[in-house]
Amino acid sequence: MSKFLINIFFVLTLIFAAALMISAQDLQTARRNLMPVPASVKWNNGRLPVTKNFTVAATGKTDERLKNYIFRVMRRLEGRTIFEFGRDLSSDAAGAVLLIETQSTGNAIPQLGDDESYNLEITDRQAKITAPTTVGAMRGLETFLQLLEGDKNGFYFPAVSIQDKPRFVWRGLMIDSARHFQPMEVLRRNLDAMAAVKLNVLHWHLTEDQGFRVESKKLPELHRMGSDGNFYTQEQIREIIDYAAARGIRVMPEFDMPGHATAWVVSHPEIASAPGPYKIERQPGVFDPTLDPTNEATYKLLEVFFREMAALFPDKYMHIGGDENEGKQWNANPKIQAFMKANDIKDNHALQTYFNKRLLKFLEKNGKIMMGWDEIFQPDLPKNVVIHSWRGQKALADAAKQGYTGVLSNGYYIDLAFPAAQHYVVDPLPVDTTLTAEEQKRVLGGEATMWSEWVSPETIDSRIWPRTAAIAERFWSPQNVNNIDDMYRRLDVVSAQFEELGLTHRKNQAMLLRRLANNQDISALQTLVSVIEPVKEYRRFQVRPQTMLSPLTGLIDASQPDAKGALEFNKLIRTYAKDKDFQNALIPLSIFFADWKNSGAILKKQIEKAPALAEANQLAADLESLGEIGSEAADLFRSGKKSSADWREAKLKTLAEIAKQKAGLEFQVVESMKILIDATAGSN
Ligand code: ACM
Repeated sequence: MSKFLINIFFVLTLIFAAALMISAQDLQTARRNLMPVPASVKWNNGRLPVTKNFTVAATGKTDERLKNYIFRVMRRLEGRTIFEFGRDLSSDAAGAVLLIETQSTGNAIPQLGDDESYNLEITDRQAKITAPTTVGAMRGLETFLQLLEGDKNGFYFPAVSIQDKPRFVWRGLMIDSARHFQPMEVLRRNLDAMAAVKLNVLHWHLTEDQGFRVESKKLPELHRMGSDGNFYTQEQIREIIDYAAARGIRVMPEFDMPGHATAWVVSHPEIASAPGPYKIERQPGVFDPTLDPTNEATYKLLEVFFREMAALFPDKYMHIGGDENEGKQWNANPKIQAFMKANDIKDNHALQTYFNKRLLKFLEKNGKIMMGWDEIFQPDLPKNVVIHSWRGQKALADAAKQGYTGVLSNGYYIDLAFPAAQHYVVDPLPVDTTLTAEEQKRVLGGEATMWSEWVSPETIDSRIWPRTAAIAERFWSPQNVNNIDDMYRRLDVVSAQFEELGLTHRKNQAMLLRRLANNQDISALQTLVSVIEPVKEYRRFQVRPQTMLSPLTGLIDASQPDAKGALEFNKLIRTYAKDKDFQNALIPLSIFFADWKNSGAILKKQIEKAPALAEANQLAADLESLGEIGSEAADLFRSGKKSSADWREAKLKTLAEIAKQKAGLEFQVVESMKILIDATAGSN
């Protein structure tokens, strides 16, 4: 592709943006690169330059946590500016470039409801963060870093006056370390990214059918027999808790029961509801092994376990799962049926509530508040239990109406490979909520959920980020922050900034593609993955059957949601589709089509030397076809001719074939291509 064409492409893109997105332009001015957008922002005239003499002073109550946070922020600023700053905090509050004033250190181990507010005032003389607590100052420091800009005169912070606080107190990311074990560095770098977008809860899913991931010193057979050796020692758990606390993030563990419990009963078949023996589950899905709620031995063991875990995890909240118990073992067990009859327990839901109430006693004895997925929301459930809604928003609203607090994850299932935009529009408290003010207070916030059936340490970052930053904005920012184009613009900036924290969501794609390509040039593959995405929802389970032991290094694993080329192409088509006039878009469109055509042809050749890419053969051919179809359409527009009905029919038929998933991957440009084909019929 020639430099000339590329330049024209960019100029045209800028012109489209300017002509068609006045409001987006306004938003760009109003929000710059802030994500999440603060509660109140007022831009002022002036700028605070950044030089190698950048200094930070801290007054008021300054603890080690804050000092270390400041040093990390300075390190990131050094990384961006390539200035080397002095190592110590300045003792000259009035003269420091950045001054931080905290009124109290707050809780050393963060708790729900901690004050996270801060003010940030930047003038051409000084930036000043004032906050009631250390955590508030941390949030302010992240905003400060997002404000860094640069031009021909160098780096600077724009003058601004920000007053900020979160909309919701519970802003979480759930990481499933059970289905695929995630090493310590994965958790550390994801905690860094969470802090960068002001998330404050790591919900750590630690037990599942496929693995028991926490060391128990009291019952060591649990992790020894349930984990293939892949578990966190208690020392490592404490390290993660400390790492999170240093970033103002709570760590809430989840021990999923009575279902999703195969890994428990590998070592303790006697507490299952059917005789063993059991093996660690290798398949994805929902399985039968269920703890026996009618057996006193179950509670004896759980009491020991919860006492130990309550001491290990300082957070007030403990998640007991409770989801997807189909009760098959209960139905089939005469002893359990007899127990239900004798105790007037009318169905499996009631039996699970009986079980939950017994657990609740242990948790309360250990000072914990119980949380569970919305299946636990049944009549008779004590009101101090937190409902975690995953099957729909209704459970959350119903729970709030009945006096329960709740957290929303329905709509934030980032494992389903949906675009960021789809999650972004989901609100824990939608504008049309029917909840009273009092009831609304019971909606604590939300959590993105990273279920790990199909994520490895190499790919997990790309399944979480950058999309979770859009969700983080939903939880933090005012409700009316909802422009999708502007969200994507800022998401792209934040995504690049995550890399300075060691996140691998971008760079690992090239690595995976090189491996697949047998170290051949990956430009053509990059074009392919720029327009395909993994199948959505749970279709991967069907179209590409794999187990927990399968390698996650295929093209589907290298591909990512929100494929960039598709986003750009679809935006271009959307822009011109209104008047079906693609005349003025011919240059950028032709660049896409030429790239697709060439890349498809190159890939077909490369696959001959890269057997791991064999499953991409048809995708390569489809990419080439898309380029050819597009070029033909562009030629029609260029010549001013209209297409024949036969031509359109043939192309639409080809597109219908291209639209079908292959190797669990789908082209994301097919709908736009259809619009283009239709438009060749002429505008009347
Ligand atoms: C869940 O997704 N089963 C909570």
